[in-house]
Amino acid sequence: MNYHIVTYGCQMNLHESEKIAGILRSVGYEKEVPLEEADIIVFNTCCIRENAENHAFGNIGALKKLKRQKKGLIIAVGGCMAQEPGKVKVLQEKFPFIDIIFGTHNLAELASLIERKKSEKRVVSLYEDRRETEDGAQPCRTSYPNAWVNITYGCNNFCTYCIVPYVRGREKSRSAAVILDEVRGLVKEGYKEITLLGQNVNSYRDGDVDFPALLEMVASVEGNFRLRFMTSHPKDFSARLVAVMKKHDKILNLLHLPAQSGSTRILRLMNRRYTREEYLEKVALLKREIPEAEITTDLIVAFPTETEEEFEETLSLVKEADFASAFTFIYSPRTGTEAAKMEGRISDEVAKDRITRLVACVNENTRRKSEKYVGREIEVLCEDFDEKRGLYLGREPLGRMGYFSSDTNCIGEFVRMKVTRANGVSLYGDKIETR
Ligand code: 5AD
Ligand code: SF4
Repeated sequence: MNYHIVTYGCQMNLHESEKIAGILRSVGYEKEVPLEEADIIVFNTCCIRENAENHAFGNIGALKKLKRQKKGLIIAVGGCMAQEPGKVKVLQEKFPFIDIIFGTHNLAELASLIERKKSEKRVVSLYEDRRETEDGAQPCRTSYPNAWVNITYGCNNFCTYCIVPYVRGREKSRSAAVILDEVRGLVKEGYKEITLLGQNVNSYRDGDVDFPALLEMVASVEGNFRLRFMTSHPKDFSARLVAVMKKHDKILNLLHLPAQSGSTRILRLMNRRYTREEYLEKVALLKREIPEAEITTDLIVAFPTETEEEFEETLSLVKEADFASAFTFIYSPRTGTEAAKMEGRISDEVAKDRITRLVACVNENTRRKSEKYVGREIEVLCEDFDEKRGLYLGREPLGRMGYFSSDTNCIGEFVRMKVTRANGVSLYGDKIETR
């Protein structure tokens, strides 16, 4: 018996799918196979924007025929969409062939839900909030040489556009001792890059241990590995954190710091709790201490009532903060959030025009920064082989992808390469040596 997992959304979900795979293996499913061959198909869904939901709806709907043809096939739907208030009813009505629905707080239960399905027609399990900080799932990791490690679950920030606090519950931190044990184990197993994950890593707390202290402890673990963390909320990004980043070579000088908007009025409406000026001060603080540091961000256009001038403030922020790259989104109203009740919706036409201009502005930064790499030597951590290009690929410490050819398999190795050409965030060049 084999499985197939379909994952939507962020790193948190990608990592949770690794945990789902671990649980499936513990109950006798052997390996991941193409969708049509699987005995159980699990959808790990996302609801952050409407199009994420529409994708999932489309793909779940397309399984109706397979389900009819294949006796015994189990279809399970979990993740953020399942946890959304009122969504279970919609899922059940639209897709009566779904066998198991489980929420974001019920992952640890998945094995028992599969067992229950043997005697029940349909199994639904949703908890209001997370009961334990440890889910007990042994992830079946698929991202070698990178490994994700959760440090917090949930979010307490309630940005007015965001559904995450409603579907992921109140913020909870894992114990520092458990996190350190996990990281030590991963480094021993040979993982070369550890990414600490949380909706807002900066509000991590376990007794006296806050995020800078935790980061320092993890960076002090012996071994040859890179350390990253995401996501940082600007309101909590501190000088102490910058000091820890500066002190430890293992910590990459790469910061994902979602700005969302360049306009202080819009930021207030978003409940972000910082102004444009305060955001830029945090950027300056980082660059003053670590001049080579790169910042990536998330930006939303067409938030209710956003004027052309306010949108232009987001464009100018891209230049002033000198973002290396950005995830850019058109505001998507999410039922139950504060912003969904606001007046002043921006038309689709204006929203599309703004996102096009924003993407062009961000791409210009990316291009300018990448071109500076031509002729330089960089060190990438090789993570995969790209069949289409016939090249190995890996990231350099500031997040750009380097492509090179090699006669030997170098996945999991640090490779030095000389850059000969740049294209967007991708750098092409020749391998020099490995260590
Ligand atoms: N509409 C558009 N983008 C959103 N994000 C979160 N909620 C919404 C929404 N309703 C974006 C934010 C966040 C990223 C993960 O997704 O930029 O940082
Ligand atoms: Fe959503 Fe804001 Fe929490 Fe990020 S910090 S998950 S945008 S509520």
